[in-house]
Order: sequence, then structure tokens, then C-alpha cells
Amino acid sequence: MHVMEEELQHLVTSARAEAEAIGEPAQLEEFRVRYLGRKGLLSGILRGLGALPAMDKPRLGAKANEAKAAIEELYAAKNAALGAGRAHVRPALDLSLPGRQPAHGRSHPISRVMRETCAIFAAMGFDIAEGPNVELDYYNFEALNIPAHHPARDMHDTFYVTDSLLLRTHTSPMQARIMEKQQPPLRVVAPGQVYRCDSDITHTPMFHQVEGFLVDKNVSFADLKGVLALFVNKMFGSGVGLRFRPSFFPFTEPSAEADISCILCSGKGHRNGEPCRICKGTGWLEILGCGMVDPNVFAAVGYPEDSTGFAFGLGVERIAMLKYGITDLRMFYENDLRFLTQFA
Ligand code: DAH
Repeated sequence: MHVMEEELQHLVTSARAEAEAIGEPAQLEEFRVRYLGRKGLLSGILRGLGALPAMDKPRLGAKANEAKAAIEELYAAKNAALGAGRAHVRPALDLSLPGRQPAHGRSHPISRVMRETCAIFAAMGFDIAEGPNVELDYYNFEALNIPAHHPARDMHDTFYVTDSLLLRTHTSPMQARIMEKQQPPLRVVAPGQVYRCDSDITHTPMFHQVEGFLVDKNVSFADLKGVLALFVNKMFGSGVGLRFRPSFFPFTEPSAEADISCILCSGKGHRNGEPCRICKGTGWLEILGCGMVDPNVFAAVGYPEDSTGFAFGLGVERIAMLKYGITDLRMFYENDLRFLTQFA
């Protein structure tokens, strides 16, 4: 017997033994590559065909084809067996199964309140503008009538980056930035993050404000009241009261703080015979600072002396807490999904 014939016989024998032991598709694939692949054992033997004497070629060629067919059959049989086995264990795709619901994200309550606030003012014709979080001392203080060494700077617990650069402590610098570039009349709201070096149960070093301001001819405090009353009505509902208390801010004159009637006790100051915990028995909750734009601010931006306007700055966390009945400020920043997924 020719040596090549022996090799072929041997190959089929070992292929048969090996095929029998195969139990997994991955093994079957290895088998296919090793025996039938382009660089496999069979090809290796067939490569020798060319060098044979012409008289041996037809016979050995036929033998080689037989061996190839035998191994291919081993492969096909095993393939069918494995496929049938699989079908038995794992049924075909069940189209009646309900689909898997992918988890979807939601916006953070702070983002929601900020967007809603902007939408309410946008509906009144206000533009929306955003400014830098790293701000010049000039816009954060100087242009807002808070010169160096002014005692009002103490209230701000400022994070300084350099002597003239800081993390903005409020969104009010946007008043100066916008007015510097744009002539009246204008109405703008500016939402964003602000920073103060302060951290305890009721303060986080970063929080959010929405600044609003309007400049035109003959703007009065009544206009400010009307705009804020409409805002409160849209944000909290029509039954909620609004009051103004005199206050002081360097960039407004006169200045006020605005309170809404307590959401929890409906302004009564007590609940179930006890002083209300949220408003501490007063019936009122502070939500913003406001006032008529100080003439010194108009001067800093180069507006004419007879300019008139109002401004306000509201605390977004505060409003979100009141709106959703959240009692702990820290919940906003712990990213606990049990908390966050409640705001659908
Ligand atoms: N910027 C003030 C603060 O962060 C809030 C404020 C008060 C803004 C009065 C105003 C305003 O625009 O008129 O405490």
C-alpha cells in the first residue's frame, strides 16, 4: 500500500474517533478547522499529490476524495446531532414573551425645577442666558455695587481662584454681563450653579439659582410684584400667597425678600395643634431676593441715568424642596436612586 493511502486511512480513523467524542459546537468547529480547513491535516496530505508519479495519481486522487467525503460526513452528522440536541434543550425564540423594559433615566429634581422656572418666565417673554461659573471679581461684586472691602462681601463666603477670579457666589453677575452688551428694553432669566464656602445640613458648597431682570422705561415695583405673583401662581398653584419684606442688597434699591405662604400648613402656622415644622410657625417661607436695579449698576454698565428695572434671584433647591416636600437638602446630592426615581 502506498504511504499516502496509509496516511489517508489513518486520518479517517482518528477523525472518526475524535468526532465521536465531540459534545459541543465549539469542539466541532475546532475539528472542522483541524481536519478540513485550508491549512488542515487533509490539505497537508493532498499537497503531496502533485509530486506523485503520473501512474499513481488517479488512484490516490480517488482515495483522497473518499477520505475527504468520509470526514465531511462525520462533520455533517455531528453537526446535525448537536443542532438537534440544542433544539431539544432550548426551544426556538418565543415571540409571545413580553419584551425587556430597558431602564430609562429621568431628569434630576433640580434640573426639572430650573427648567420649569425658565419656561414660566420664557412664556412671559424673558430670554434665557447662561454665564461662566468661574467669574471675574468685577462682575460678581464690583459691577454690582459691592466694592472691595464692602461688608456685603462677608455674606458670600467666596471661593477665590486668584485675587481677581472666583467661583460665582450668585447668578447676579449675569445682570452686568448682559446689560454691558445689550441695550434696554430687555428681559432675561439666567439659571445656573453658584458656589459658597459653606457646608452643613442646610447649605451645600454648590447650589443653584435663577436670576431674572427686566429693564425698560418706567418700570415700577408693581411690575416686579405682578411678574413674581404670576410665577408663584404657575409654580405652586393659585392658592399660594406671596408677600414682600423690606431687605437690603447692594445692587437693588429698594430691596425686598419675597415669601410664599407655607405649603405644608397652608399659611396657618400650625398643624395638628403643633407649630408647623417647615415654616417654624410663621406661615411663610422665603423663596427669593429682589428689588429695583440700583442706579450704580446702571452706571457700571453705561446705561442712561433714567433707566429703570427690577431684578430677582431665586434659590432653586429651596423651591424644589417646597414643591416636592423634600425635608433634607442633602438628598439632592446623594444620588440615591430610590429618591431620584420618584420624579417621573
Ligand atoms: N444675588 C442674591 C443672593 O444670592 C439674590 C438676589 C437678591 C438677586 C436681590 C437679585 C436681587 O437679583 O435683586 O443672595
